[in-house]
Amino acid sequence: MQLQFQTTISAADEALICPVIFNKKNPQIAAYPKALQNFIRTALKTKQLEPKEGSHFEIPVTISRFPKYITVVSLGDEAKLKEGIVRSNIAGAIKTLRGAKKKIATLMYSQELNKYARVIGEAVVMANHLLGRYKTGKLLESDKKHTLTAIHVVTTTKSAVDEELKKGIATGLIVNITRDLINDPPNLLTARTFSDVGKKIAKENGYKYQIFEKKDLEKMKMGALLAVNRASSTPEDDARMVVLEHMPNKSEKPILLVGKGIIFDTGGYDLKPSRHMADMQMDMSGAAVVFGIFSLLKKLGIKQNVVGIAPITANLVGPTAYKSTDIITSYSGKTIEITNTDAEGRVVLCDGISYGVKTYKPRQVIDIATLTGACCVALGDRYAGVMGTDWKAMRLLKKLGRKTDELVWPLPIHPDYESKMKSKIADLRNSEDGYYAGAQKGAAFLKSFVEKIPWIHMDIAGTAFTSDPKRYESMMGTGFGVRLLTSYLENLK
Ligand code: BES
Ligand code: MN
Ligand code: ZN
Repeated sequence: MQLQFQTTISAADEALICPVIFNKKNPQIAAYPKALQNFIRTALKTKQLEPKEGSHFEIPVTISRFPKYITVVSLGDEAKLKEGIVRSNIAGAIKTLRGAKKKIATLMYSQELNKYARVIGEAVVMANHLLGRYKTGKLLESDKKHTLTAIHVVTTTKSAVDEELKKGIATGLIVNITRDLINDPPNLLTARTFSDVGKKIAKENGYKYQIFEKKDLEKMKMGALLAVNRASSTPEDDARMVVLEHMPNKSEKPILLVGKGIIFDTGGYDLKPSRHMADMQMDMSGAAVVFGIFSLLKKLGIKQNVVGIAPITANLVGPTAYKSTDIITSYSGKTIEITNTDAEGRVVLCDGISYGVKTYKPRQVIDIATLTGACCVALGDRYAGVMGTDWKAMRLLKKLGRKTDELVWPLPIHPDYESKMKSKIADLRNSEDGYYAGAQKGAAFLKSFVEKIPWIHMDIAGTAFTSDPKRYESMMGTGFGVRLLTSYLENLK
């Protein structure tokens, strides 16, 4: 999406988005052209527009020297203005213009919005996401006709917003790419092509990287990741582990990000019923989010040392598949009794975490995963669960979640839940029969592998994929986590 600045509006502008902020019911529109002010005041009189946030109206215009189409949207009272209001209403306006087949959106900009330049850039691009990439011919053409190509911003103070708008647009683009990855099915996004995405990001950004292939994983004794991979029967779907390093400060310990990369989850021999297997191409969302974050670290100027790890495989059935009762030896040396082949996420993550902890001695571990259906039951689709040992970081994430609208809510890991993950015959078991606290028991299993390092586990099972998109989302993959975790890294001392 192209960004361009201009100082006034003109007849050449195809469609205008005109946000209006109120101060005690008075529209703050003194800086807008007179004719536009008149439109707005008339609309307020006739109640086509109201001061409350979200109120909006569309006008096809006939005045010369004016854009042909204007959408006016109220952002509500200045005192109550916040990120969520700006994001949602700008996204709503973009979706309106897409519906009207406009190609270029021209945005009226006022000083009050300066604080929100980043949010605006993100919202414009996220709301412009094209879902139907695999359509062809007329169907594809039609979808493309409903997608904008450029955003023009009307402002006389370009320098105040330029950088932040660009960062916002860059972030939106990466969120959309992350969504596309999440939506890609396992015949198109194989373990090989997904790991190639990691490689491409490393090369583009000049990161040091490693792609461990199956033979490397065997040598390294990544027994847990390899166990889940056992039913995959083509080189295309051999397990991989991608490691990316962003190390701008030589002496500091990095933050370790580990993302679950299950390119498809059938459940294995503990087969999922079909209604639960639908959409399981999204089970690599955690890894896609880690890739998304690495696509942005340099663009956003993030100075933290960060290491990203993505263990990648499908979880399939077949004669060679791992089975319940199998006892496997993980990379850490700890043995795991497999009690449910559908609890595969924690099994691949533990090897990723152990490798990262051993190799990099990180100052903090964050793992992100579509780990449990139980998390969806507990928190639904608007909150991701956060668990772990680093309560200070969880509080910060909760706060930043309100700004990014990637909300998280803490869930407690009781020591008894940790005991429940112990096996009679091995060190650990990967699931427990009980029906209670499934999200936390998944976390309790992972806790054994982070050792004493401050740690956060994010369960995004409920938020990674949607059939009820918000205004800045599309159906399917949301990219949840990219904006929250990049903002976390930006805000970290
Ligand atoms: N990938 C699933 C979790 C999931 C469920 C993600 C719904 C997104 C939407 C995970 O691998 C899984 O199957 N978890 C099991 C764990 C259980 C067997 C202990 C679950 O939640 O049922
Ligand atoms: Mn599973
Ligand atoms: Zn899974």
